[in-house]
Amino acid sequence: MKSIDDLGDLRGKRVLVRSDLNVPLDGSTITDDGRVRASVPTIKKLVDAGARVVVVAHLGRPKGAPDPAYTLAPVAGRLGELLGQDVAFATDTVGESARRTVDGLADGQVAVLENVRFNAGETSKDDAERGAFADQLAALADVFVSDGFGVVHRKQASVYDVAQRLPAAMGGLVAAEIDVLRRLTQDPERPYAVVLGGSKVSDKLGVIDNLLGKADRLLIGGGMVFTFLKAQGHEVGTSLLEADQLETCREYLRRAEESGVEILLPTDVVVAPEFKADAPATVVAADAMPADQMGLDIGPESGKAFAAALADARTVFWNGPMGVFEFDAFAEGTRAVAQALTEVPGLSVVGGGDSAAAVRKLGFAESAFGHISTGGGASLEYLEGKQLPGIDVLS
Ligand code: 3PG
Ligand code: MG
Repeated sequence: MKSIDDLGDLRGKRVLVRSDLNVPLDGSTITDDGRVRASVPTIKKLVDAGARVVVVAHLGRPKGAPDPAYTLAPVAGRLGELLGQDVAFATDTVGESARRTVDGLADGQVAVLENVRFNAGETSKDDAERGAFADQLAALADVFVSDGFGVVHRKQASVYDVAQRLPAAMGGLVAAEIDVLRRLTQDPERPYAVVLGGSKVSDKLGVIDNLLGKADRLLIGGGMVFTFLKAQGHEVGTSLLEADQLETCREYLRRAEESGVEILLPTDVVVAPEFKADAPATVVAADAMPADQMGLDIGPESGKAFAAALADARTVFWNGPMGVFEFDAFAEGTRAVAQALTEVPGLSVVGGGDSAAAVRKLGFAESAFGHISTGGGASLEYLEGKQLPGIDVLS
């Protein structure tokens, strides 16, 4: 697979860079700029090489047409601050503004194109429609650099099709992420523990399936754990529950037992009558949840047990918060797991999205972890053993 260095002399060349700048916003305020910061080194490298850098990215899931709620303008502003140089912003992705903005770039200057998902062709399932849009993107540049790790699992025009239309290389962020994931899948140091949370079991089926043959310990928390607790025969009150996954969860518990994989579920839970920051929180045993309350975090005893199960692990992968960490009363389980990861005597990896935002929100230093991935779905799909279209297309 080509790296940026294999693209030759980039001075004066127009380089289209796919970054993942999909950050959480509160209005036009970026609440966690981790993905913007992670995108800077590759862009800076291209700037230093004298390239004319054209950044293409998405924000959220607009419906294939312009929607001001999803403009990348604030993100372009933040990128400029982090780069320490002006960043031009095109108010469309492949139209008049984009062409003019790209034409106006001097060597070493940077432009950001408006949200690529404002164009129906970007996410179209129709190859021809996606291809036609990729043609327009490709016309803006001489070469392509794929650096949006968080979207490499998406077969989309700016991730996949454009790489078939221009000389293409892998950016430094994607290379670094793949490197770490490879260490998790190829002969990980043992014990290898995986912590899974987040709201839905159905998002994690593939990865659990795969890990039952690979990990030594599987720790489960977050909203998805209530489907497991129910599968074990416990009442879960008004907690999140995916009734159609109960049989699957039972099957996983059986397979884990057979294959000697230790599955840890919480033994206590923080419950509240409703999903609210100031709802009165109580700790109850996981097998004695009141019928009119919902579980919003793992309890303190479980936090300690999870930490103990990570203390001697040599490899840990964590995806998904243990509770509703956005509310202080339900953040302790996530904090306990994050803290335990910082003390792992080996490789600790925080897998993307919510968990990455959680560790930053809870005030942990990024350097305390072995690696914080910028891709949630992408890293899970890699661990599932799936092919990632945005990576495959580069080789
Ligand atoms: C993410 O936030 O997971 C990535 O940016 C991909 O976004 P998507 O899930 O909307 O494709
Ligand atoms: Mg996602």
